[in-house]
This record gives sequence, C-alpha cells and structure tokens, in this order.
Amino acid sequence: MSAETALPQVPLVLAPLRGVTILAFRRVFAAPLREAGFTLAYSPFVSATSDAAPGGSSLADILGDQPLPLVPQVIGKKPSAVAAVLRAFKDAGYSRADLNAGCPFPMVRRKGRGSGLLDNPDLLARLCETGVKEMGEGNFSVKVRLGVKDPFTLERRVMPVLNSFPLACVTIHARTAEQMYSGAVDMERWIAAAAMSRNPVVYNGDVFTGGFEPRFPAQARPCALMAGRGAVAMAGRREDSAQLALAYMEESERELSGPAPVLGRMKELLAYWKALPRWRRVWPLAKISRTLAELRAAIARA
Ligand SMILES: Cc1cc2nc3c(=O)[nH]c(=O)nc-3n(C[C@H](O)[C@H](O)[C@H](O)COP(=O)(O)O)c2cc1C
Repeated sequence: MSAETALPQVPLVLAPLRGVTILAFRRVFAAPLREAGFTLAYSPFVSATSDAAPGGSSLADILGDQPLPLVPQVIGKKPSAVAAVLRAFKDAGYSRADLNAGCPFPMVRRKGRGSGLLDNPDLLARLCETGVKEMGEGNFSVKVRLGVKDPFTLERRVMPVLNSFPLACVTIHARTAEQMYSGAVDMERWIAAAAMSRNPVVYNGDVFTGGFEPRFPAQARPCALMAGRGAVAMAGRREDSAQLALAYMEESERELSGPAPVLGRMKELLAYWKALPRWRRVWPLAKISRTLAELRAAIARA
C-alpha cells in the first residue's frame, strides 16, 4: 500500500468498521497495514446493554492475540452498562478504551446511543466520567462527529464537556450524523472544533480516498489520522490483493459455519475494491457468486 495523497507525517490508525475491519481482516492484512504506516487499530463497537458482564461472543473480536495494537470500543448510554463492558476490556488485558459517540444510524441515535449522545452533553459527561474512572486518566477516548444535524454542535455544546476530562484523545469524523458516510467533509468546522480541544485530536473522514488532501493549521494539528474505507480500498491496490483476499476467505471459512456468512463477508470486502482497475471486472462475477468455489474462481481472475 502506498499513501496516495500527501498527508501530514503523523501516525495512522485503522478505523473501526463493523463487519469489515474485524479480527480476521486485521490478521490477514496486518503486514500490509503496518507497511502502509498503521500502528494501531480500533475495534468495531461492543454494545453495552446490561450491567452484567458481556458474553464471550460479543468480545470475540478483541480476545486472543491481536495482530495490531488494539483499542476496544464500546457503544452505550447507560453508565453502569458501559462500566461493565469497560471492566471486561480490562479483564481481557486492555488499558485503553474508546466510546462510540458517532454512530449515525437513525435507530441508534434516536435511542440516544452513538451520535445521539452529541445532543445530550450531560449524559456524555457522565459516560466520560465513567470511562475515566474505569480506565484511568489519559486512557479513555471518545469518537465523535460534528453534530447530528448541526455541524456547530461539537464546538458549541460538546467540546466544553470533553475538555473537562483528561482523555487519551478525541477522534472527530468531519461530518454530521445526517450526512452518514457521504457528502463533503467539513474541514472548517473540524478545524474550529479541534482548535478548541484540550485533549489530543485525531482526524477522521475520507483519508486515502481520491483527491482528499487535509490541510491542518498549527492550532489544529491532529496527533494521528484515522482511516477506514480508504485503508480497506488501499489493500485492493496491492499486487498480492487476490492472494490476500483468498487468505481472508480461508480465515473466514475456519471461523464461520457454512458458506453463506463467508460469501457475505467476502462480498462486503470486495465491494470496497469494485472501482479499482484490477477488480472492476471481477466484482460483477463475485457479486453473483453463490458458492465458495464460484467466488474463489472469480477472485483468482483478479
Ligand atoms: C461499514 C462501516 C462500519 C462502521 N463501524 C463503526 C464502528 O463500529 N465504530 C465506529 O466508531 N465507527 C464505525 N464506522 C465509522 C468509521 O469508523 C469512520 O468514522 C467512517 O467510515 C469515516 O472514516 P473513513 O472515511 O476513513 O471511512 C463504520 C463505518 C462503516 C462504513
């Protein structure tokens, strides 16, 4: 993988993409990610729904040997339930954890979780208090967006709350929740919010996607860049991308039962590669593959 845009010389971190940057992906793509400069990954979120310790299956992604240093992420709104997940993270050996305050899906945010927390700064403060108490000062971080509808929410209502806690960092995806994952990133609002932060700030949004060149003034320089979709797409540009895809398929066959979930997982990965020259002709075949043999044959054509 090679950086296609001139990016500031700061560490790269792999974004949490539920269903995509999962443990199997991180295992198979660890070397290419390291080669491209990634030094850390965030796990897709673990849901905090009850005060009981979370079950093993919800922690599967974060347990065992990790190919890249990992920060596990929790999503929730009830402080005692979030604390239960954070204790499970600590029991699994982690000293850092992250809170998802950015998930944009209407079903999530209307229940006050994910980006819904941006419209409830008092609750966000209680969750930060819980996080810092459980993980210790400088070991808890929060991932946010600019707001739900209003891109000024972060700087006007949320940053003052985050500034009152000693966080490891604040990751800011430069979009509102209503934008979901498309539309232009709003660098003006990102810079205004980042410049206010007393905690280190991580930039997120469209890193490594065509033509995006973030420029940061001195007062809003990020300590790291987080890349998700661009990092996954970059892997498809490698010479050995077909071998890597086949290795990911093998790893997935070992982990999942039956062909259907393996086909689903592979198609989710290949969808990130479908616009790349090498994969453009393969994608229509991969998409309609109904058996693992068909999919393997399609991948081998790349
Ligand atoms: C399929 C998918 C799953 C995601 N899952 C999570 C998640 O579990 N936790 C989280 O904080 N963000 C999640 N995100 C958001 C990404 O971490 C990231 O903020 C977003 O994709 C923008 O960065 P990018 O342009 O580099 O992809 C997800 C995004 C996508 C597309």
